Amino acid sequence: MHAPKPKWLNDAVFYNIYPQSFYDSNGDGIGDLKGIAAKLDYVQEMGYTAIWLNPIFVSPFRDAGYDITDFYKVAPRYGTNEDFAALAAEAKKRGIKVVLDLVAGHTSLECEWFQQSAKPEKNQYTNRYVWSNSVWDTDGNALISGYSDRDGCYMKNFFYCQPALNYGFKVITRPWQLPMDHPDCLAMREELLNVMRFWSALGADGFRVDLASSLVKNDPDGEGIIELWNDVIGRYKVEYPDNVLIAEWCHPKRAIRAGFDIDFLIHSGLKAYTTLFRYERGTSVNDEFNSGDSYFRRAGKGGLTEFLNEYLEHYNATKADGYISIPTGNHDIPRLSLLRDTEELKAAMVFLLTMPGVPLVYYGDEIGMRYVEGLSSKEGGFNRTGSRTPMQWENGKNHGFSTSDTPYLPTDPAEAAPTVAAQRNDPHSLLSLTKTLIALRKAHPALMADSAFDVVHTDYPFVYKRTAADETVVVAVNPSDATQTVEIPTPGEVLLQSGVTVENGTATFDAVSYIVYKI
Ligand code: NOJ
Repeated sequence: MHAPKPKWLNDAVFYNIYPQSFYDSNGDGIGDLKGIAAKLDYVQEMGYTAIWLNPIFVSPFRDAGYDITDFYKVAPRYGTNEDFAALAAEAKKRGIKVVLDLVAGHTSLECEWFQQSAKPEKNQYTNRYVWSNSVWDTDGNALISGYSDRDGCYMKNFFYCQPALNYGFKVITRPWQLPMDHPDCLAMREELLNVMRFWSALGADGFRVDLASSLVKNDPDGEGIIELWNDVIGRYKVEYPDNVLIAEWCHPKRAIRAGFDIDFLIHSGLKAYTTLFRYERGTSVNDEFNSGDSYFRRAGKGGLTEFLNEYLEHYNATKADGYISIPTGNHDIPRLSLLRDTEELKAAMVFLLTMPGVPLVYYGDEIGMRYVEGLSSKEGGFNRTGSRTPMQWENGKNHGFSTSDTPYLPTDPAEAAPTVAAQRNDPHSLLSLTKTLIALRKAHPALMADSAFDVVHTDYPFVYKRTAADETVVVAVNPSDATQTVEIPTPGEVLLQSGVTVENGTATFDAVSYIVYKI
């Protein structure tokens, strides 16, 4: 039985803050928790109801903090545990939830658990990570050999510096693979729950779980990992029923069955997201990755069939118990603005903020921050680095991010780099549209997470109905450059529109246009 979804998710809009790049309060060049607290006015002004922070814990930062050394301590560069508690308390006063990143599958090599585990002598951490029995047993090169004098190889979960924690194997094919109910694997589960309890007691309103499906090994149909999360989330929700669990799984049917409230539709796993925004699936940030026929492009060569087939299958199977989140972007993929102009971004934003489920805006996407090309890799970012540059608050030094001469990363060097200051008072800016859409979503039950979703027309324009008990809202978006003429349900009150004229039930859509109205 799935725990009830927290009620506050129905009109929630998340804002994803990359802590090192948001706002530097002490001039050391790196964003920090006090900096985030200082910008809560902005978060509130935009209407966001929750923030998710990428990892803020002690780390050598070989994968930007997704390699944790101490799960119970804020990294000094971001502040202290007290600073986190203060941020959460201040956010709470303003009705804003604070969600942390739970890196459940691995640690850094520097983590004390791993240092103990790597010792040849048996100790309480020997089985905390997945190790083979011999330094020569690399399981066909899947394991890392020769790290220490322990005779065995450790399994990595992502980069080599992220050894996999041991929650057990579903299917056992080697003697060193422990079953999920091995006491040492169960002890790891308890540790994970303790981490969740620890931050929740300090004010966290839930977690986004990194690589949520990665914990149980040799688990081809996901039954092992679904069982594990049902146990962990089930017990957590007894203590914190109103807190949210968000999966980075990209398979909503599995993630919601595992007990999560939300799963992301992103670039990995299913193809739905990339067919909308980025045609080629892959890891490279280059033209090839972005220049294909994705739906949200002026070229108008994309289609919705692939998206809708996958989306509807997962949406219909999960809507009773959880939500799908289609984010504007994240720290792992090129910015939405790469190869899109402001009008194209507006069309995408109309869609993203009117779909069912829980929307999420990646910091800076509300002003159309650019993917900054040509940067050297920073902290394991590689080609992801260009999507992680500091928030551009205003013109001037480091765009108002920091007073330091050596900021974490440079801000966008373009003369016309978008800023909050420039867009805040411009009613036609992307920021203003984003703010309007968030307000509409919160004011109209039909646009909220739980309300029904029915497709009216595809491909260009995309027309759909959102229905709540007393209200139906129609959303119609034409991201293409071609004029489109289609029949649409007769409009009542128009809530938002750009470039659409309606006469006798027939609507003419100019290039890159949209309309949102009640019927
Ligand atoms: C997914 C995170 O979003 C990404 O940034 C990280 O590198 C991997 N998981 C490994 O933790």
